[in-house]
Amino acid sequence: MSVFQYKLSSRSGPITVEDYRRAARRAVPDMVWAYVDGGAEDHTTLRANRRAFDRWCLRTHVLTGKEARDLSVEVAGVPLSLPVLLAPTGLTGISHWTGELGAAQAAERTGTRVILSTAATYSVEEVAGGTEHDHFFQLYPWADEATGARALTESFIDRAKRAGFQGLFVTVDVQTHGNREGERKRGMGTPPVLTPARIASAAIRPKWWYAFFRHQRMSARILLDESGMKAAVRSVQAQYRWMRPELNWDDFAWMRQQWSGPLFIKGVLDADDAARAADLGADGIVVSNHGGRQLDGAVASLDALPAIARRVGGQAEILMDGGIRRGSDIVKALCLGAKAVCIGRPYVYGLAARGPAGVEDILRILRAELSTAMTLMGVDRPADLDPSWLLPADRVVGDAAGGG
Ligand SMILES: Cc1cc2nc3c(=O)[nH]c(=O)nc-3n(C[C@H](O)[C@H](O)[C@H](O)COP(=O)(O)O)c2cc1C
Repeated sequence: MSVFQYKLSSRSGPITVEDYRRAARRAVPDMVWAYVDGGAEDHTTLRANRRAFDRWCLRTHVLTGKEARDLSVEVAGVPLSLPVLLAPTGLTGISHWTGELGAAQAAERTGTRVILSTAATYSVEEVAGGTEHDHFFQLYPWADEATGARALTESFIDRAKRAGFQGLFVTVDVQTHGNREGERKRGMGTPPVLTPARIASAAIRPKWWYAFFRHQRMSARILLDESGMKAAVRSVQAQYRWMRPELNWDDFAWMRQQWSGPLFIKGVLDADDAARAADLGADGIVVSNHGGRQLDGAVASLDALPAIARRVGGQAEILMDGGIRRGSDIVKALCLGAKAVCIGRPYVYGLAARGPAGVEDILRILRAELSTAMTLMGVDRPADLDPSWLLPADRVVGDAAGGG
Protein backbone atom coordinates (compact mmCIF):
# COMPACT_ATOMS: atom_id res chain seq x y z
CA MET A 1 0.00 0.00 0.00
CA SER A 2 1.42 3.41 -0.93
CA VAL A 3 1.86 6.09 1.69
CA PHE A 4 -0.95 8.02 -0.01
CA GLN A 5 -3.41 5.13 0.10
CA TYR A 6 -2.38 4.42 3.66
CA LYS A 7 -3.20 7.95 4.77
CA LEU A 8 -6.61 7.93 3.14
CA SER A 9 -7.68 4.50 4.34
CA SER A 10 -10.39 4.95 6.94
CA ARG A 11 -9.81 2.75 9.92
CA SER A 12 -11.46 1.82 13.14
CA GLY A 13 -8.26 0.84 14.97
CA PRO A 14 -5.32 2.87 16.21
CA ILE A 15 -3.90 5.41 13.75
CA THR A 16 -1.19 7.11 15.82
CA VAL A 17 1.61 5.95 18.10
CA GLU A 18 -0.35 7.43 21.01
CA ASP A 19 -3.42 5.35 20.02
CA TYR A 20 -1.19 2.28 20.10
CA ARG A 21 0.13 3.32 23.50
CA ARG A 22 -3.42 3.30 24.87
CA ALA A 23 -4.18 -0.05 23.22
CA ALA A 24 -0.97 -1.52 24.66
CA ARG A 25 -1.87 -0.24 28.12
CA ARG A 26 -5.11 -2.24 27.91
CA ALA A 27 -3.37 -5.36 26.56
CA VAL A 28 -0.79 -6.03 29.28
CA PRO A 29 -0.89 -6.29 33.09
CA ASP A 30 0.24 -3.36 35.26
CA MET A 31 3.59 -4.95 36.02
CA VAL A 32 4.52 -5.34 32.35
CA TRP A 33 3.25 -1.85 31.60
CA ALA A 34 5.47 -0.39 34.31
CA TYR A 35 8.45 -2.09 32.67
CA VAL A 36 7.63 -0.96 29.13
CA ASP A 37 6.36 2.54 29.64
CA GLY A 38 8.09 3.71 32.79
CA GLY A 39 11.34 5.53 33.31
CA ALA A 40 13.77 6.26 36.11
CA GLU A 41 12.73 8.07 39.31
CA ASP A 42 10.60 11.17 38.63
CA HIS A 43 10.49 10.70 34.85
CA THR A 44 12.18 14.06 34.36
CA THR A 45 14.34 12.83 31.49
CA LEU A 46 11.51 10.75 30.05
CA ARG A 47 9.41 13.93 29.79
CA ALA A 48 12.38 16.03 28.63
CA ASN A 49 12.88 13.66 25.69
CA ARG A 50 9.42 14.60 24.43
CA ARG A 51 9.49 18.28 25.32
CA ALA A 52 12.74 18.85 23.45
CA PHE A 53 10.87 18.40 20.15
CA ASP A 54 8.45 21.23 20.98
CA ARG A 55 11.30 23.72 21.10
CA TRP A 56 11.69 23.54 17.34
CA CYS A 57 9.36 24.66 14.55
CA LEU A 58 9.61 23.34 11.04
CA ARG A 59 10.35 25.78 8.29
CA THR A 60 8.44 25.53 5.02
CA HIS A 61 9.15 26.45 1.44
CA VAL A 62 6.11 26.41 -0.82
CA LEU A 63 5.88 25.80 -4.56
CA THR A 64 8.98 23.65 -4.58
CA GLY A 65 7.26 20.95 -6.62
CA LYS A 66 8.81 18.37 -4.32
CA GLU A 67 7.21 15.26 -2.86
CA ALA A 68 8.95 13.06 -0.31
CA ARG A 69 8.42 9.59 -1.73
CA ASP A 70 11.88 8.13 -1.28
CA LEU A 71 12.78 8.12 2.40
CA SER A 72 15.62 5.66 2.11
CA VAL A 73 18.93 6.00 3.95
CA GLU A 74 21.89 3.74 4.57
CA VAL A 75 23.02 2.85 8.08
CA ALA A 76 26.18 0.84 8.64
CA GLY A 77 26.17 0.02 4.94
CA VAL A 78 22.64 -1.42 5.11
CA PRO A 79 19.99 0.24 2.93
CA LEU A 80 16.81 1.06 4.86
CA SER A 81 13.56 2.17 3.22
CA LEU A 82 13.00 4.73 5.97
CA PRO A 83 15.31 6.39 8.50
CA VAL A 84 13.95 4.41 11.44
CA LEU A 85 15.43 1.37 13.17
CA LEU A 86 13.93 -0.68 15.99
CA ALA A 87 15.97 0.05 19.12
CA PRO A 88 17.07 -2.86 21.30
CA THR A 89 14.47 -3.70 23.93
CA GLY A 90 15.06 -6.49 26.41
CA LEU A 91 12.42 -8.98 27.60
CA THR A 92 10.13 -8.00 24.73
CA GLY A 93 8.45 -11.42 24.89
CA ILE A 94 6.65 -10.42 28.08
CA SER A 95 4.71 -7.79 26.13
CA HIS A 96 3.79 -10.19 23.34
CA TRP A 97 4.98 -13.75 22.95
CA THR A 98 6.36 -13.16 19.44
CA GLY A 99 8.86 -10.77 21.04
CA GLU A 100 12.04 -9.71 19.29
CA LEU A 101 11.63 -12.27 16.50
CA GLY A 102 8.18 -10.91 15.61
CA ALA A 103 9.57 -7.38 15.72
CA ALA A 104 12.53 -8.30 13.48
CA GLN A 105 10.22 -9.93 10.93
CA ALA A 106 7.94 -6.90 10.96
CA ALA A 107 10.95 -4.60 10.56
CA GLU A 108 12.18 -6.38 7.47
CA ARG A 109 8.72 -6.48 5.92
CA THR A 110 8.79 -2.69 6.27
CA GLY A 111 12.29 -2.31 4.86
CA THR A 112 14.24 -1.73 8.04
CA ARG A 113 16.09 -3.69 10.74
CA VAL A 114 16.02 -4.46 14.43
CA ILE A 115 18.92 -4.00 16.84
CA LEU A 116 18.54 -7.21 18.86
CA SER A 117 19.05 -6.76 22.61
CA THR A 118 21.43 -8.92 24.63
CA ALA A 119 18.46 -9.30 26.99
CA ALA A 120 16.17 -10.52 24.19
CA THR A 121 13.75 -13.36 24.82
CA TYR A 122 14.77 -14.88 21.47
CA SER A 123 18.38 -15.91 20.94
CA VAL A 124 20.63 -14.56 18.17
CA GLU A 125 20.36 -17.95 16.46
CA GLU A 126 16.55 -17.96 16.60
CA VAL A 127 16.32 -14.44 15.16
CA ALA A 128 18.89 -15.19 12.44
CA GLY A 129 17.02 -18.41 11.56
CA GLY A 130 13.61 -16.72 11.47
CA THR A 131 14.51 -13.70 9.34
CA GLU A 132 15.71 -13.17 5.77
CA HIS A 133 18.17 -10.36 6.32
CA ASP A 134 21.00 -9.79 8.72
CA HIS A 135 20.10 -7.53 11.60
CA PHE A 136 22.18 -5.69 14.21
CA PHE A 137 23.15 -6.95 17.65
CA GLN A 138 23.20 -4.84 20.82
CA LEU A 139 25.86 -5.84 23.29
CA TYR A 140 25.73 -5.45 27.02
CA PRO A 141 29.34 -6.05 28.06
CA TRP A 142 28.38 -8.15 31.06
CA ALA A 143 31.00 -10.04 33.03
CA ASP A 144 30.45 -13.41 34.63
CA GLU A 145 32.44 -13.78 37.85
CA ALA A 146 32.97 -17.46 37.08
CA THR A 147 34.56 -16.97 33.66
CA GLY A 148 36.33 -13.64 34.20
CA ALA A 149 35.78 -10.12 32.96
CA ARG A 150 35.71 -10.54 29.21
CA ALA A 151 34.81 -14.16 28.47
CA LEU A 152 31.05 -13.70 28.56
CA THR A 153 31.19 -10.62 26.34
CA GLU A 154 33.48 -12.48 23.96
CA SER A 155 31.02 -15.35 23.75
CA PHE A 156 28.15 -12.95 22.91
CA ILE A 157 30.26 -11.32 20.19
CA ASP A 158 31.19 -14.72 18.73
CA ARG A 159 27.60 -15.91 18.66
CA ALA A 160 26.38 -12.70 17.00
CA LYS A 161 29.17 -12.99 14.44
CA ARG A 162 28.43 -16.63 13.68
CA ALA A 163 24.71 -15.92 13.37
CA GLY A 164 25.52 -13.32 10.70
CA PHE A 165 24.65 -10.09 12.49
CA GLN A 166 25.75 -7.01 10.52
CA GLY A 167 26.70 -4.46 13.13
CA LEU A 168 27.43 -4.34 16.82
CA PHE A 169 25.85 -1.71 19.08
CA VAL A 170 27.64 -1.52 22.43
CA THR A 171 25.40 -0.03 25.12
CA VAL A 172 27.45 1.95 27.63
CA ASP A 173 24.84 3.65 29.80
CA VAL A 174 23.92 0.67 31.97
CA GLN A 175 26.90 0.63 34.33
CA THR A 176 24.30 -0.10 36.97
CA HIS A 177 20.57 -0.54 36.86
CA GLY A 178 18.57 2.70 36.60
CA ASN A 179 16.32 3.44 39.53
CA ARG A 180 12.95 2.57 38.06
CA GLU A 181 10.72 2.97 41.07
CA GLY A 182 7.54 2.49 39.05
CA GLU A 183 8.61 -1.08 38.28
CA ARG A 184 9.38 -1.80 41.92
CA LYS A 185 6.06 -0.35 43.05
CA ARG A 186 4.25 -2.71 40.69
CA GLY A 187 6.19 -5.77 41.78
CA MET A 188 8.35 -6.05 38.65
CA GLY A 189 11.35 -7.40 40.55
CA THR A 190 13.39 -10.58 40.73
CA PRO A 191 11.34 -12.54 41.52
CA PRO A 192 8.17 -10.62 40.67
CA VAL A 193 6.15 -9.92 43.81
CA LEU A 194 2.60 -11.09 43.29
CA THR A 195 -0.31 -9.63 45.26
CA PRO A 196 -4.01 -10.36 44.68
CA ALA A 197 -4.35 -7.05 42.79
CA ARG A 198 -1.38 -7.87 40.55
CA ILE A 199 -2.68 -11.36 39.85
CA ALA A 200 -6.08 -9.84 39.05
CA SER A 201 -4.44 -7.40 36.63
CA ALA A 202 -3.10 -10.40 34.68
CA ALA A 203 -6.22 -12.54 35.13
CA ILE A 204 -8.48 -10.00 33.42
CA ARG A 205 -6.23 -10.22 30.35
CA PRO A 206 -6.65 -13.92 29.44
CA LYS A 207 -5.23 -13.45 25.93
CA TRP A 208 -2.01 -12.07 27.43
CA TRP A 209 -1.55 -14.66 30.18
CA TYR A 210 -2.47 -17.61 28.00
CA ALA A 211 0.29 -16.65 25.51
CA PHE A 212 2.68 -15.71 28.32
CA PHE A 213 2.46 -19.11 29.99
CA ARG A 214 2.15 -21.09 26.76
CA HIS A 215 5.23 -19.63 25.08
CA GLN A 216 7.22 -18.67 28.17
CA ARG A 217 9.27 -15.93 26.53
CA MET A 218 10.39 -14.24 29.69
CA SER A 219 14.15 -14.73 30.05
CA ALA A 220 17.27 -13.49 28.28
CA ARG A 221 17.79 -16.48 25.98
CA ILE A 222 21.42 -15.69 25.27
CA LEU A 223 22.15 -16.49 28.92
CA LEU A 224 19.86 -19.40 29.54
CA ASP A 225 18.24 -21.44 26.85
CA GLU A 226 15.42 -22.35 29.16
CA SER A 227 11.86 -21.27 29.53
CA GLY A 228 9.74 -20.77 32.62
CA MET A 229 9.55 -18.34 35.48
CA LYS A 230 12.50 -19.80 37.42
CA ALA A 231 14.82 -19.40 34.43
CA ALA A 232 13.51 -15.88 33.89
CA VAL A 233 14.30 -14.91 37.47
CA ARG A 234 17.75 -16.49 37.25
CA SER A 235 18.56 -14.71 33.99
CA VAL A 236 17.49 -11.29 35.29
CA GLN A 237 19.37 -11.79 38.57
CA ALA A 238 22.47 -12.70 36.59
CA GLN A 239 22.15 -9.55 34.49
CA TYR A 240 22.08 -7.38 37.60
CA ARG A 241 25.13 -9.13 39.04
CA TRP A 242 27.04 -8.85 35.80
CA MET A 243 26.62 -5.15 35.08
CA ARG A 244 30.01 -3.49 35.16
CA PRO A 245 30.45 -0.05 36.71
CA GLU A 246 34.21 -0.43 36.15
CA LEU A 247 33.80 -0.63 32.36
CA ASN A 248 36.15 1.87 30.69
CA TRP A 249 37.56 3.06 27.36
CA ASP A 250 40.14 0.25 27.30
CA ASP A 251 37.25 -2.21 27.29
CA PHE A 252 35.69 -0.32 24.41
CA ALA A 253 38.98 -0.40 22.48
CA TRP A 254 39.11 -4.15 23.14
CA MET A 255 35.58 -4.62 21.79
CA ARG A 256 36.61 -2.69 18.69
CA GLN A 257 39.34 -5.29 18.16
CA GLN A 258 36.93 -8.17 18.60
CA TRP A 259 34.44 -6.98 15.98
CA SER A 260 35.62 -6.21 12.46
CA GLY A 261 32.22 -5.04 11.16
CA PRO A 262 30.46 -1.74 11.84
CA LEU A 263 30.62 -0.84 15.54
CA PHE A 264 28.29 1.69 17.18
CA ILE A 265 28.37 3.01 20.73
CA LYS A 266 24.91 3.52 22.26
CA GLY A 267 24.14 5.80 25.16
CA VAL A 268 26.37 8.81 24.51
CA LEU A 269 25.21 12.33 25.46
CA ASP A 270 28.47 14.24 25.53
CA ALA A 271 30.46 15.52 22.54
CA ASP A 272 33.84 14.74 24.16
CA ASP A 273 32.75 11.13 24.73
CA ALA A 274 31.51 10.91 21.15
CA ALA A 275 34.87 12.19 19.87
CA ARG A 276 36.75 9.71 22.04
CA ALA A 277 34.63 6.82 20.77
CA ALA A 278 35.15 7.90 17.17
CA ASP A 279 38.91 8.19 17.74
CA LEU A 280 38.88 4.62 19.07
CA GLY A 281 37.28 3.45 15.86
CA ALA A 282 33.51 3.65 16.48
CA ASP A 283 31.71 3.79 13.15
CA GLY A 284 28.62 5.26 14.71
CA ILE A 285 27.22 6.97 17.78
CA VAL A 286 23.71 6.49 19.14
CA VAL A 287 22.83 9.66 21.04
CA SER A 288 20.59 8.22 23.73
CA ASN A 289 19.65 8.37 27.39
CA HIS A 290 18.10 4.90 27.24
CA GLY A 291 14.64 6.41 26.86
CA GLY A 292 14.86 8.09 30.28
CA ARG A 293 15.22 4.71 31.97
CA GLN A 294 18.70 5.17 33.43
CA LEU A 295 19.88 8.54 34.82
CA ASP A 296 16.92 10.72 35.68
CA GLY A 297 18.02 14.31 35.15
CA ALA A 298 20.16 13.44 32.13
CA VAL A 299 19.83 15.76 29.16
CA ALA A 300 17.18 15.04 26.51
CA SER A 301 18.63 13.12 23.57
CA LEU A 302 17.48 15.72 21.03
CA ASP A 303 19.19 18.48 23.05
CA ALA A 304 22.45 16.51 23.14
CA LEU A 305 22.35 15.76 19.43
CA PRO A 306 23.51 19.00 17.71
CA ALA A 307 26.84 19.32 19.57
CA ILE A 308 27.66 15.65 18.94
CA ALA A 309 26.72 15.88 15.28
CA ARG A 310 28.86 19.00 14.84
CA ARG A 311 31.83 17.38 16.55
CA VAL A 312 31.90 13.91 14.98
CA GLY A 313 29.30 13.95 12.20
CA GLY A 314 32.07 13.90 9.60
CA GLN A 315 33.76 10.94 11.22
CA ALA A 316 30.92 8.66 12.38
CA GLU A 317 27.28 7.96 11.57
CA ILE A 318 24.99 9.64 14.05
CA LEU A 319 21.76 8.01 15.23
CA MET A 320 19.51 9.17 18.04
CA ASP A 321 16.68 7.76 20.09
CA GLY A 322 14.36 8.93 22.84
CA GLY A 323 10.88 10.37 22.51
CA ILE A 324 10.25 9.84 18.80
CA ARG A 325 6.47 9.54 18.46
CA ARG A 326 5.69 11.41 15.22
CA GLY A 327 7.10 11.72 11.72
CA SER A 328 7.79 15.40 12.44
CA ASP A 329 10.00 14.31 15.39
CA ILE A 330 12.08 12.30 12.93
CA VAL A 331 12.37 15.38 10.69
CA LYS A 332 13.70 17.43 13.62
CA ALA A 333 16.24 14.77 14.60
CA LEU A 334 17.47 14.52 11.00
CA CYS A 335 17.72 18.32 10.75
CA LEU A 336 19.86 18.36 13.89
CA GLY A 337 22.34 15.86 12.52
CA ALA A 338 20.98 12.31 12.89
CA LYS A 339 21.19 10.05 9.86
CA ALA A 340 18.36 7.93 11.24
CA VAL A 341 16.50 7.46 14.51
CA CYS A 342 15.67 4.43 16.63
CA ILE A 343 12.33 3.84 18.29
CA GLY A 344 11.90 1.79 21.46
CA ARG A 345 8.54 2.04 23.19
CA PRO A 346 6.52 2.85 20.04
CA TYR A 347 7.12 -0.55 18.49
CA VAL A 348 6.67 -2.35 21.79
CA TYR A 349 3.26 -0.65 22.01
CA GLY A 350 2.51 -1.98 18.52
CA LEU A 351 3.65 -5.45 19.47
CA ALA A 352 1.73 -5.53 22.75
CA ALA A 353 -1.46 -4.35 21.09
CA ARG A 354 -1.43 -6.37 17.85
CA GLY A 355 1.69 -8.50 17.64
CA PRO A 356 4.04 -8.15 14.63
CA ALA A 357 1.24 -6.55 12.56
CA GLY A 358 1.19 -3.75 15.13
CA VAL A 359 4.94 -3.20 14.71
CA GLU A 360 4.51 -2.99 10.95
CA ASP A 361 1.68 -0.54 11.43
CA ILE A 362 3.76 1.67 13.72
CA LEU A 363 6.47 1.83 11.08
CA ARG A 364 3.90 2.58 8.38
CA ILE A 365 2.37 5.34 10.47
CA LEU A 366 5.77 6.94 11.03
CA ARG A 367 6.62 6.59 7.34
CA ALA A 368 3.35 8.27 6.28
CA GLU A 369 3.77 11.07 8.82
CA LEU A 370 7.39 11.63 7.83
CA SER A 371 6.53 11.75 4.14
CA THR A 372 3.67 14.18 4.77
CA ALA A 373 5.79 16.49 6.92
CA MET A 374 8.65 16.61 4.42
CA THR A 375 6.35 17.17 1.44
CA LEU A 376 4.59 20.01 3.27
CA MET A 377 7.97 21.54 4.13
CA GLY A 378 9.07 21.33 0.50
CA VAL A 379 11.90 18.84 0.88
CA ASP A 380 12.03 15.49 -0.85
CA ARG A 381 15.06 13.63 0.51
CA PRO A 382 16.14 12.89 4.10
CA ALA A 383 19.71 13.87 3.15
CA ASP A 384 18.52 17.42 2.35
CA LEU A 385 17.37 18.08 5.91
CA ASP A 386 19.75 20.28 7.86
CA PRO A 387 19.52 22.87 10.68
CA SER A 388 18.35 25.55 8.27
CA TRP A 389 14.95 23.79 8.18
CA LEU A 390 14.35 24.50 11.87
CA LEU A 391 13.37 27.62 13.76
CA PRO A 392 13.73 27.78 17.55
CA ALA A 393 10.15 27.96 18.84
CA ASP A 394 10.92 30.68 21.38
CA ARG A 395 12.22 32.99 18.69
CA VAL A 396 9.54 32.61 16.05
CA VAL A 397 7.05 34.82 17.92
CA GLY A 398 7.32 38.16 16.15
CA ASP A 399 9.80 36.76 13.63
CA ALA A 400 7.66 34.02 12.16
CA ALA A 401 9.13 34.16 8.67
CA GLY A 402 12.49 32.87 9.84
CA GLY A 403 15.22 33.21 7.28
CA GLY A 404 16.16 36.75 6.42
C1 LIG B 1 11.09 -1.97 27.48
C2 LIG B 1 12.45 -1.43 27.09
C3 LIG B 1 13.56 -2.26 27.16
C4 LIG B 1 14.81 -1.77 26.77
N1 LIG B 1 15.89 -2.63 26.77
C5 LIG B 1 17.06 -2.19 26.26
C6 LIG B 1 18.14 -3.10 26.09
O1 LIG B 1 18.03 -4.28 26.38
N2 LIG B 1 19.31 -2.61 25.60
C7 LIG B 1 19.47 -1.28 25.25
O2 LIG B 1 20.54 -0.89 24.80
N3 LIG B 1 18.44 -0.42 25.39
C8 LIG B 1 17.26 -0.83 25.87
N4 LIG B 1 16.21 0.04 25.96
C9 LIG B 1 16.38 1.44 25.50
C10 LIG B 1 16.03 1.57 24.01
O3 LIG B 1 16.97 0.90 23.21
C11 LIG B 1 15.99 3.03 23.56
O4 LIG B 1 17.18 3.66 23.91
C12 LIG B 1 14.79 3.81 24.13
O5 LIG B 1 13.66 2.99 24.26
C13 LIG B 1 14.47 4.99 23.23
O6 LIG B 1 13.44 5.76 23.75
P1 LIG B 1 11.91 5.61 23.31
O7 LIG B 1 11.37 4.44 24.04
O8 LIG B 1 11.30 6.90 23.76
O9 LIG B 1 11.86 5.44 21.82
C14 LIG B 1 14.96 -0.42 26.35
C15 LIG B 1 13.82 0.40 26.29
C16 LIG B 1 12.57 -0.09 26.64
C17 LIG B 1 11.38 0.81 26.54
